[in-house]
Amino acid sequence: MVEVVVSEAKLWERLGKLPKVSLATLPTPLEPLPRISQLLGIQIFVKRDDLTGLAFGGNKTRHLEFGIGQAISQGCDVIINGAAVQSNYCRQTAAACAKLGLKCALVLRRLPQVEALKVEPQGNLLLDYLFGADVRFVEPDEDLELAKERVADEYRNKGHKPFIIRHPDVSGGYGYLVCLLELVEQCRQMGIEPTHIIHSSSTPTQAGLIIGVKALGLDWKVIGISPLKREGVHQRIAELTNLVAESLDLPVKVMPEEVLFTMDFVGEDYGIPTPEGIEAMKMMAQLEGIVLDPAYTAKAFAAIIAMAKSRRLTEEHTVIFIHTGGTPALFAYQPVLVEAFGAQLALGLPCK
Ligand SMILES: Cc1ncc(COP(=O)(O)O)c(C=O)c1O
Repeated sequence: MVEVVVSEAKLWERLGKLPKVSLATLPTPLEPLPRISQLLGIQIFVKRDDLTGLAFGGNKTRHLEFGIGQAISQGCDVIINGAAVQSNYCRQTAAACAKLGLKCALVLRRLPQVEALKVEPQGNLLLDYLFGADVRFVEPDEDLELAKERVADEYRNKGHKPFIIRHPDVSGGYGYLVCLLELVEQCRQMGIEPTHIIHSSSTPTQAGLIIGVKALGLDWKVIGISPLKREGVHQRIAELTNLVAESLDLPVKVMPEEVLFTMDFVGEDYGIPTPEGIEAMKMMAQLEGIVLDPAYTAKAFAAIIAMAKSRRLTEEHTVIFIHTGGTPALFAYQPVLVEAFGAQLALGLPCK
């Protein structure tokens, strides 16, 4: 047990002082995965953040509660976000804006490495249009931050007050500190003592979880599984964690070498499904009735399967997999999945 720095009540109190809007249905369920636990020989639970409630759910609902809260507190009327074409963050931003009566502009980058994801108005992109977002496209090599600035200028020239969502941003850290506090309460009620929290991570989600674990002195390993290859992510996560901790006046400091994060499950590239990810999707779907997406959650769950197979995780461990959402993207991947995995997709696991 590590030293407790701050009580749960204090963390809730500090979070309660931040500008926030209510978008999510919380707490999300914490459920056992009995059939997969039996198959893999570890105790495994899933935190259903795919059920956060806003427009097919996902981790970004939590980020947006604080991000848009800040925008509204500054009197902004247009929210600008940008990411890859099948971005879950952008889809949820568009939905949140629709719900709150704000204008939403999205700058989307086509993925050159995945043919079907270049143009098809499917999955998240279809939903962006449905939620009435002003959708713009940029080329793969264009600077997204500059593109977002250009769109913001356009809106300013028309008399609006735009708010740009930056990546990474403290709001996701706040959102996942809330999630960690929920988990602590749910584990207490259900009598669960987790050893590992494992999830798809690009930065803010993991930052929030790390702060909670450190501040409460929990002996839980938070392991982030990357959906993409990028330099310096340990540093990036540590920096954001420390920034969030500082803004909440918490005496928590994290060094990059303490961050547990791996790019081992990305495969060829961001957004390209892996055979191990497909196996994870099939296992979750066919043993537990839960949908994973090929870009994020399937690769994260593939890591758990690999760790169980190599006995890095054993029957002595209790793992919580945070399902961070992303499920609408599945439909955009239909051609890619069928082309790459064809009949393999249709094959059932041997179910008793
Ligand atoms: C489904 C899904 N899981 C995980 C992540 C990573 O979340 P974060 O950027 O907060 O680390 C994302 C980011 O877009 C996502 O869409």
